[in-house]
Amino acid sequence: MPLTTSSTREIPETGMIPRHIAIIMDGNGRWAKKRFMPRVAGHKRGVETVRTAIKACVDRGVEYLTLFAFSSENWRRPADEVTFLMQLFITVLEQEVVKLHENGIRFKVIGDLSKFEPKIVEFIRNGETLTANNTRFTLTIAANYGGRWDIMQAVHRMLEQHPELAACFEEKDLMQYFSLNYAPEPDLFIRTGGEKRISNFLLWQLAYTELYFTDTLWPDFDTRALNLAIQSYQQRERRFGRTSEQLQIAPSANELREIATERMAKFQ
Ligand code: IPE
Ligand code: IPE
Ligand code: MG
Repeated sequence: MPLTTSSTREIPETGMIPRHIAIIMDGNGRWAKKRFMPRVAGHKRGVETVRTAIKACVDRGVEYLTLFAFSSENWRRPADEVTFLMQLFITVLEQEVVKLHENGIRFKVIGDLSKFEPKIVEFIRNGETLTANNTRFTLTIAANYGGRWDIMQAVHRMLEQHPELAACFEEKDLMQYFSLNYAPEPDLFIRTGGEKRISNFLLWQLAYTELYFTDTLWPDFDTRALNLAIQSYQQRERRFGRTSEQLQIAPSANELREIATERMAKFQ
């Protein structure tokens, strides 16, 4: 049964550590350019940052991490860069999936896989199957993903299975068909690399997510930088349409803030 809690309606119960962090990992090319290296060197270095980010999130008690690795628009890049990224994806899948499994991490990929080589799709499916029962942490890679594609494929799949809904359907009917139907909506969105846009990432799911933009380029986004993002998140008041006063009467809000501050202090 997919988990389809809508955080646009409910105040998250988990306190001040975000349950789900979604990241646009941007700035690899500029990181390399600054060092007079080819853009692809930045992508390679970016994979190391992914490892660091996963570990930091697991340590802090984050439950879901969703990383934008390749957008549906990234096919527009020069052919040799696209080829390099595909090869890097294969190498990472080959080397890392078993390690994820050993660490109790569930691995998922969202996006339109029909454009990928069969070999990549096979690696992805095998990895997902191998790690399917891991419950400690869920890592989702968005590959050939687009938020508009996701909404469209959800509508198509819903109507395929339930043609009677064509006349009338509700949010809850559609939500179970989104690619991220197994995860709560992201609490914290991070974009590295200085751009302040969503670039067709999780359009539906980011409706009430706290947004954090940093100029830090993805290969430089270390544990300290992640801590800063979480600390910024902890200063936010998530109202979901309510007034500030309504939130103050919830007795646990301040307590949760103190607990979270203590927990984060361990990682300073
Ligand atoms: C993000 O870094 C990685 C991918 C989109 C695959 P970029 O490659 O976009 O790096 P910049 O933005 O050009 O620096
Ligand atoms: C967004 O980065 C996609 C990924 C990080 C995978 P881009 O660098 O492709 O975004 P735009 O084109 O600058 O918006
Ligand atoms: Mg970019």
